[in-house]
Amino acid sequence: MTIEFKDVNIIYNPRSPFEFHALKDINTTFDDKKFYGLIGHTGSGKSTLIQSMNGLILPTSGVVNVDGTILNKKTKQKTIHQSKMKVGMVFQFPEHQLFEATVLRDVMFGPMNMGASEEDAKTKAIEYLQLLKLPEDLYERSPFELSGGQMRKVAIAGILAMEPSILILDEPTAGLDPVSHDETMKLFYDVYKKLNVTIILITHDMDDVLFYTDEVKVMDKGHLVNEGPTKEILRDKDFMTRYNLDIPHVLQLSQDLEDKGIHLSRIPSNFEEFIVLYKEWRRSHA
Ligand SMILES: Nc1ncnc2c1ncn2[C@@H]1O[C@H](COP(=O)(O)OP(=O)(O)OP(=O)(O)O)[C@@H](O)[C@H]1O
Ligand SMILES: [Mg+2]
Repeated sequence: MTIEFKDVNIIYNPRSPFEFHALKDINTTFDDKKFYGLIGHTGSGKSTLIQSMNGLILPTSGVVNVDGTILNKKTKQKTIHQSKMKVGMVFQFPEHQLFEATVLRDVMFGPMNMGASEEDAKTKAIEYLQLLKLPEDLYERSPFELSGGQMRKVAIAGILAMEPSILILDEPTAGLDPVSHDETMKLFYDVYKKLNVTIILITHDMDDVLFYTDEVKVMDKGHLVNEGPTKEILRDKDFMTRYNLDIPHVLQLSQDLEDKGIHLSRIPSNFEEFIVLYKEWRRSHA
């Protein structure tokens, strides 16, 4: 399933003293089954862009085409509901969205809300709780009695149980300690591999963008200023600096080595790969 933006503008509070032009003439496509990074300085329009993909915000002008569902300024609630079923969103601290009496009930809520029978909803809920490896003896417990990490899994299972074809993660690791950060990112990557969905990750962590994503789209002051293969864009120091973005640490290190005449055989995506390539270089220059 693809999402296409055609001449999309979004203006908050139009014709008021608080008018703000948050998205400017966006034309782009998110293809099927890729892992995208959506990056840009704070306030550049990333969250606005993704919220226009499931009708949380409608375009002021232009069209967002979500796999045939057309979202424009005149779109009605029924159509917005269709787009919500296709696009799952995970915000920061998804566990704050939990509310049902038991873990199982919480995960069943989404499918039932979409019209599934109780039995089908239960089957789906169990399927996704198992996928996220939540122990079965917790299913009948209150979600509020779980650890933070377990709560997060329940909340994510609830979104996956609606079987969206595109999963949007808006700063899902912001505010997490380093261990939970890695666990959460691994979890999403696992979901990506197993479920074959499209993922759009918004984050300020350029190491994660380098490691997990295939392509990036870069926002600045409401404009889409670049898009393409992740490594190609993230290693362009001039470009990254111009838009106030950090160079991933491992690319910075590779660059420092280059400056010293040490040329690795390819560009590493993470530290493990960096070390392997560096050792390889040392052996070949011993
Ligand atoms: N409801 C709103 N009303 C008015 N202006 C808004 C509203 N929501 C966002 N904005 C403004 O629109 C611009 C883009 O906001 P958005 O949240 O999309 O940025 P972002 O790229 O997600 O930033 P961050 O990295 O800080 O999350 C900002 O200048 C913001 O102040
Ligand atoms: Mg944001």
